[in-house]
Amino acid sequence: MPKKSLNDADYAGKRTLVRVDVNVPLEDATITDDTRIRAALPTITTLLDGGAIVTLCSHLGRPKGKVVPEESLALVRERLNQLLDADVIMAPDCIGDEVAALREDLRPGQVLMLENTRFHPGERANDPEFARALAGDAELYVNDAFGSMHRAHASTVGVTDYIDECVAGLLVREELDKLTPCREASGDGFVVILGGAKVDDKIDAIRELLPRAEKLIIGGAMAWAFFKARGMGIGESLCTCDSLQAAHEILDGMGDHLDRMMLPVDVHIVQVEPDTGEMRVAPADAIDKGWDALDIGPDTRVLFAQAVRDAEIVFWNGPMGYFEKPPFDEGTRDLARALAETDAYTVVGGGDSAAAITQMGFDDDMSHVSTGGGASIEFVQGDDLPGVDALDDN
Ligand code: 3PG
Repeated sequence: MPKKSLNDADYAGKRTLVRVDVNVPLEDATITDDTRIRAALPTITTLLDGGAIVTLCSHLGRPKGKVVPEESLALVRERLNQLLDADVIMAPDCIGDEVAALREDLRPGQVLMLENTRFHPGERANDPEFARALAGDAELYVNDAFGSMHRAHASTVGVTDYIDECVAGLLVREELDKLTPCREASGDGFVVILGGAKVDDKIDAIRELLPRAEKLIIGGAMAWAFFKARGMGIGESLCTCDSLQAAHEILDGMGDHLDRMMLPVDVHIVQVEPDTGEMRVAPADAIDKGWDALDIGPDTRVLFAQAVRDAEIVFWNGPMGYFEKPPFDEGTRDLARALAETDAYTVVGGGDSAAAITQMGFDDDMSHVSTGGGASIEFVQGDDLPGVDALDDN
């Protein structure tokens, strides 16, 4: 690890600002998955046990620089209070006089949870004044927000200009260690699986990883964009203009490597116009008008599982279909099972695929399930993460 981590820092009695990523899913004012909160606990408890004075900051959602009460971190504070053997105090904001006073009064054994950093436009703009205010009186900064390490924001990068010592937290360290084999992998035995809705979100990943992987499997609605770009009919299946354009760019620009790309050979479709709800399996080149592809088909599931079985390292980001709605979870489930059964080193990137794996009960069978979605994919594709770069060198 070229950067300093918590193990290299002396934190006893130090005022410490900890950037966590507790950007958790919420539904009807309830946290539906607290994985990211739990993942932050080892760093927080290590600091508390070592006598540090801990202030936490994080974003939640994308409130666009305005206060959005539904995206308050109050629910996260409540959950932390249940999980930690410490008194967790909620601040009314993340900067300002009242917050500065709360930080000054904080004692060892207490934790202060600052309000959503994205309630201020200065967070995403990485504004120096906002960063200085957020840094406050901190003597030590610990960045444990792996899921946000690809964002050059005030709380992940800007604050490091105003705090003497800046180190990686235990989660960040673990994530970087576990993802490094995928970042360094290339050639035979390296299989990448990309799914989800949009090709344009993953165009850089495809560009970087297609030449490096032995096989790059594409599933989910991303695949329908490639079908359409090849002139095949996709009926009413999901495909945005941006995705289509990105698929064209890949097909036109990466000719030398396209034989490594595996697309579905069959699909699970449903009739939506007229809305009969009838379902069937069709060859990939026979999606009729009025039909919507919602999952990969059974022959594809066998082909993709075989590719995983023969692999040495597998990196997976993005579901194979509309896994939230059975029976369209079968593609994602069979692939998860194949990853669980293989002897390969298996890493699942965060977001929907990690949620699916966990929901289906396969998470313990993976070598690693990352808490980062965009951050894990950017790291594996070889990009430098601004949040890591900003930390002190070891
Ligand atoms: C995530 O959920 O991937 C991280 O918390 C980053 O969130 P963002 O994509 O809104 O920056």
